[in-house]
Amino acid sequence: MKTIIVNAGPRKGWNTDLMLKEAQKGAEAAGAETEYIDLYDLTFSGCRSCLECKRKDAEKCRCYWDDDLSPVIEKILSADALIIGSPIYMGQPTAGFRALFERLVFCCLSYDGGNGYFNGRVNVGLVYTMNSPKKYFDRVMKASFA
Ligand SMILES: Cc1cc2nc3c(=O)[nH]c(=O)nc-3n(C[C@H](O)[C@H](O)[C@H](O)COP(=O)(O)O)c2cc1C
Repeated sequence: MKTIIVNAGPRKGWNTDLMLKEAQKGAEAAGAETEYIDLYDLTFSGCRSCLECKRKDAEKCRCYWDDDLSPVIEKILSADALIIGSPIYMGQPTAGFRALFERLVFCCLSYDGGNGYFNGRVNVGLVYTMNSPKKYFDRVMKASFA
């Protein structure tokens, strides 16, 4: 059982990182082999719309952009589980999280009809950290996290 853990926040040793490190301990205690990736140590951008992944002869579910994120996408898609954490910035996960999300989902998205190219299964756990008091979260933000 391979679990990839992605910290999509920039600060090491703070809220998101601490929560994810605890999740890592839990996964390992349950027998998983884990790999922890600090996204903000890597050099990458969001999807560049090169559309290489949509060529007829393209390998399915592969991001062809040559930067540090493509190997992470490959690792995630061949893992059994992904635990990804992000602080909330302006009501949303971080820009780094969004960049990963764009590229991970887009390279699996089918242009041939159907739901998508990915036939496997990766169980996903999400860890969000934020400062808003619970009352504010419930009133303003909860619906967008459902
Ligand atoms: C640029 C920026 C934007 C933020 N926006 C929000 C927000 O919209 N709502 C919120 O509750 N907290 C917000 N926060 C607070 C962080 O989400 C919160 O402190 C988080 O736990 C920080 O995670 P970290 O300790 O892993 O860096 C923001 C913080 C920063 C730096």
